Amino acid sequence: MLKKQVYMHTIGCQMNVYDSDQIVKGLKSLEYETASSMDRADLIILNTCAIREKAQQKAYSFLGRLAKLKRKKPDLIIGVGGCVAQQEGEKILTRMPHLDFVFGTRAIGRLPGIVRQVASQGSRIVDVEMSADIDEFESKFSSMETGKPTRFVTIMRGCDNYCAYCVVPYVRGQELSRNPEKIIQEIRALVASGVREVTLLGQNVNSYGLKEGLCSFPELLKKVNDIKGIKRIRFTTSHPKDLSEDLMGAFAELEKLCNHIHLPVQSGSNRILKRMNRKYTREGYLEKVALLRHHQPDIAVTSDFIVGFPGETEDDFKKTLDMIHRVQYDGLFAFKYSGRPSAPSVHMSDKVPEREKRDRLQELFRLQERIAIQKNQALVNTTQEILVDGLSRNKSEINISSGLEQVQWTGRTTTNKIVNFSREKDNDSGNDDYTGMMVQIKIEKAFPHSLWGRPVYIEPEALDLKGESYAA
Ligand code: 5AD
Ligand code: SF4
Repeated sequence: MLKKQVYMHTIGCQMNVYDSDQIVKGLKSLEYETASSMDRADLIILNTCAIREKAQQKAYSFLGRLAKLKRKKPDLIIGVGGCVAQQEGEKILTRMPHLDFVFGTRAIGRLPGIVRQVASQGSRIVDVEMSADIDEFESKFSSMETGKPTRFVTIMRGCDNYCAYCVVPYVRGQELSRNPEKIIQEIRALVASGVREVTLLGQNVNSYGLKEGLCSFPELLKKVNDIKGIKRIRFTTSHPKDLSEDLMGAFAELEKLCNHIHLPVQSGSNRILKRMNRKYTREGYLEKVALLRHHQPDIAVTSDFIVGFPGETEDDFKKTLDMIHRVQYDGLFAFKYSGRPSAPSVHMSDKVPEREKRDRLQELFRLQERIAIQKNQALVNTTQEILVDGLSRNKSEINISSGLEQVQWTGRTTTNKIVNFSREKDNDSGNDDYTGMMVQIKIEKAFPHSLWGRPVYIEPEALDLKGESYAA
């Protein structure tokens, strides 16, 4: 029997990428396979993000474009999930008559049932129930086949922090941690299928297990570190207020834990941090970064910033720039403040004009660019180990002198820096897939957001896996 095809489109964060994987895996029980294009699909699912207005607009414009497809193909089923679905619920079906179902952030385990009902009865369904059972989908959808060496693993859902600007606690619900045994089981299955690096995901991994009395986050990291075959462990995100010295110590103790922490600060001004309900001060944050660097001197630190939060003055913004200058971040994400209907800051006065937000964002990026290029330049002529993610987005090219095809590869250092390199395509041995290999790279060029280098050593263990031995 010809299998039905599902086309999954994801907007937003890593958590959504993980959820989309779970959705696709769940639909395999209904004999759906992944469609290579939207035109071929019998079922289209959009996983949405509500963190900023722009992400929400993107969701609506994607869904709007599907109306024409549905007219051409009336049997096509269209569903929308994720944070916008949770927030808007029934309203989406009213606004968009060509949609069939809406499912919330805690309805992923129920999705196969929803799709079955829509397909058999033609009913339109809304399920935005906030189930309290976090492991509901896991027993059904455990191991995954993969061609990728890196994977995300959600260890907790929701958030209890209620930052004034943020929609997450309202659309993803309260913090719930997964059972450590289930997490370890999932990672073991991933490793058995070829995965070499996992990123543990949660809105605030530092408070993992505390509410439920499970093991602590550093203890969980130790358990993951003990899994045979795993090469690298990452995690994101850490709330600065909950960053413990135990976790700082884990960087030195656990050999597989990557040398990078994402520690969103949002603002460098105490007045704004208070209005944001972040529960730490700039001094407290700087002290934690200093202590972290005391434990692990060469750790890479990255962060998130919001510019133009209501009431942010030029002086507050200068303090944010000063924070960036003092910490010397390895990288950062920065966003213009976006008022969200369910987040309390939407009612705050002293809104910052759009133009001001744009100018501040540009100034912030200019400063960070200078810092990043300096930091990356310091790596030129050093040798860095990378795990190769796969082919780089840049296409292959022909080497003029040898006439051979050069293929570009991309990977990351333990400090999460992107490194690209090229190799001649080896058509004779077929031994030219570097995906998942640990490669030592002599860095030759530095850019603000990436490095370029030349392989000097390729892990023989990985090459053995491919049945060939090789000397670079
Ligand atoms: N406006 C702008 N940026 C936001 N973020 C969260 N909510 C908002 C908002 N309303 C940013 C924060 C957070 C990141 C994931 O998104 O910087 O750390
Ligand atoms: Fe949002 Fe704050 Fe929770 Fe992060 S910690 S998800 S910013 S409420």
